[in-house]
Amino acid sequence: LRRSPECHQEEADGHLRYRIIEKKLKGMGDNMKGLFITMEGPDGAGKTTVINQLIPLLQKHALVDIVSTREPGGSRIAEDIRKVILDVNNTEMDERTEAILYAAGRRQHLKDRILPNLEKGNIVFCDRFVDSSLVYQGVARGIGVEEVAQLNHFATDGLEPSTTLYLDVPAEVGLERIHKARGNRQFDRLDQEGLSFHTMVRNGYLELVKKYPERIVSIDATKSIEEVVEECFRVLVERYPKYFTK
Ligand code: TMP
Repeated sequence: LRRSPECHQEEADGHLRYRIIEKKLKGMGDNMKGLFITMEGPDGAGKTTVINQLIPLLQKHALVDIVSTREPGGSRIAEDIRKVILDVNNTEMDERTEAILYAAGRRQHLKDRILPNLEKGNIVFCDRFVDSSLVYQGVARGIGVEEVAQLNHFATDGLEPSTTLYLDVPAEVGLERIHKARGNRQFDRLDQEGLSFHTMVRNGYLELVKKYPERIVSIDATKSIEEVVEECFRVLVERYPKYFTK
């Protein structure tokens, strides 16, 4: 488990740069024994399909329990908040309202599920976490990465994943997959966004990968599902030999 550095964003010559300031954290999360893993990626990166194959594989090799969860949502109240955020009728939702709702759901999910399982020593595998807000709300919605980081710091008290598996696909590929899958996947409000939004999301993630090269592992998700699952598995087993048998 990591302690989050505070992330300060500066804009210079059109490039986002971040200054990291380590901050001592208090209270929450001091007695954590478990392992907190997240998965991130633009829409259409194939997260759901990968997770459906990766979790059973990890479970086979894990020496502790694995709890698979997701955001937005992941616990009863947080799932209620998810419904409000993703409701296709809420087109007029203000972007800060949206950011606050994501952070509120995250806080509740953390208290209800993530922390109790980490305290028990389990592996918590979460589909999306703070990075999604930094990218979607901070970059793509234009609120600013630093503002969204601060909001989320309040929500999480600085708790960060040990490893984040980032599934990387170009925006065009992600969008094409979404459209193909529309028949068997619920089309939500955010899928209505165009290519430029999806491109900003991808670029936002690439900035985070550069900024957190140790925590975030970028995986080429244009490869076959089998290869992507295999690579995710390999990364985790190599990084955490105490938690998995080979
Ligand atoms: P999902 O498709 O992975 O279930 O995520 C639903 C959408 O919510 C997806 O388009 C990304 C978006 N999202 C944010 O904009 N900010 C966040 O903090 C999270 C967790 C998700």
